[in-house]
Amino acid sequence: MDRFLIHGPCTLSGSVRVSGAKNAVLPLMAATLLSRGVSRIHNVPDLRDTRTMAKVLETLGAEVHREGSTLTIDTTAADGVDAPYELVKTMRASIYVLGPLLAAKGKARVSLPGGCAWGPRPVDLHLKGMETLGAVVELEGGYIVARQPSGGLTGGDMDFETSSVGATANLLMAAVLARGTSVLENAAREPEVTQLAEALVDAGAKIEGIGTTTLTVEGVEEIRPLEVTVIPDRIEAGTFLTAAPILHSKLKVEGLRPDHLGATLEVLEACGCSFQVGEDFVEIDGSAASAPVNVVTRPYPGFATDMQAQTMAVATLLDGISVITDTIYPDRFTHVAELRRLGAQIRLDGNSAVVTGVERLSGAPVMATDLRASAALILAGLAAHGETLVDRIYHIDRGYEQIERKLAALGARIERVEGPPTP
Ligand code: UD1
Repeated sequence: MDRFLIHGPCTLSGSVRVSGAKNAVLPLMAATLLSRGVSRIHNVPDLRDTRTMAKVLETLGAEVHREGSTLTIDTTAADGVDAPYELVKTMRASIYVLGPLLAAKGKARVSLPGGCAWGPRPVDLHLKGMETLGAVVELEGGYIVARQPSGGLTGGDMDFETSSVGATANLLMAAVLARGTSVLENAAREPEVTQLAEALVDAGAKIEGIGTTTLTVEGVEEIRPLEVTVIPDRIEAGTFLTAAPILHSKLKVEGLRPDHLGATLEVLEACGCSFQVGEDFVEIDGSAASAPVNVVTRPYPGFATDMQAQTMAVATLLDGISVITDTIYPDRFTHVAELRRLGAQIRLDGNSAVVTGVERLSGAPVMATDLRASAALILAGLAAHGETLVDRIYHIDRGYEQIERKLAALGARIERVEGPPTP
């Protein structure tokens, strides 16, 4: 199992370019199942999760090829309807094939994803969404089995009691081919959902209210193959931006969408960073960062739960007491115990972490517990004095393209080393 060996502390400088957004490309790849033919998705990051989604599509009969950062997905012979446990258990987002399969093939059999490192993560809203279109949904042997009613899916109204990125995208993909009108209320409006909706419209879907919490879908007979360029990864961009205050560095993060980073930039400003914001870059100066922060995660455009762990890493070295509350995933705090191993002072109080800034962190062996927690440990490891060994970095390979190379190019001393084989 690979690990990262980090020598800290270091100062970063120079510029780094962000890759395409993992959370945008996964639903786009699933949406290629809505049509037969050749879809092209550009600016696709090469990640463990995009490879897993490619395997899911191949299992369903699609042909997937990568050339550079373009994925070509040919669904001409994609007649399968089964997404097996072996794949779904490695990536929850495999559930994105549920809506497209149900709508385009009439039936879907998708393994239930199970829990994850930070809680039970239910899929009830995905299932309820399919039912509002008339689908018959049953759970059999650990699988979700969803079928169209005789006569096909019909438009329906869904008022999401919780804003859900995944359930909104899944229902949207099913509703575009349902007969009649569907209204999705309290829909998620994360940029990744907006990108999916726009790509579907380009391919012939009729969707109104894109970018708002009410999406109105008029079903169409067919969707054409997709041709789309994935938006920049706002979480990867945010992760590099948080490196500036924790390492008191100045750097330029390029190829991003500043309008997707509003809440992150507000927090970085609050702790004392200054910026120059361009059309597709942010130059950040974190050398004077010292003020504690108060952060509450919320659905977009609020502060992203996917930036919570990295922000906590920054808070460990700010002056005074920072409070970081996660309202999206109240148990998403597995990184706390690992940050404490580096010398951080953090107390958990319900779904809030109370972080008392310390003078310095010191290197130690730590264990990555999930994707964003891994990013937080890398940032803290870069700031810590001495050697930090981050184990289980397969988590980070799920969602960050070549993070060690990008950080090393900025001046970080980080290398990938082979660990002992998995027991
Ligand atoms: C997506 C992102 C993930 C991010 C999360 C929140 C992808 C592949 N993953 O995950 O990185 O952390 O959004 O921004 O895009 N919920 C239910 N029932 C459901 C579905 C969700 O109760 O059926 C709840 C969840 O427990 C959570 C909240 O809704 O409290 C938001 O989760 P959701 O937006 O669905 O997260 P994902 O789409 O799984």
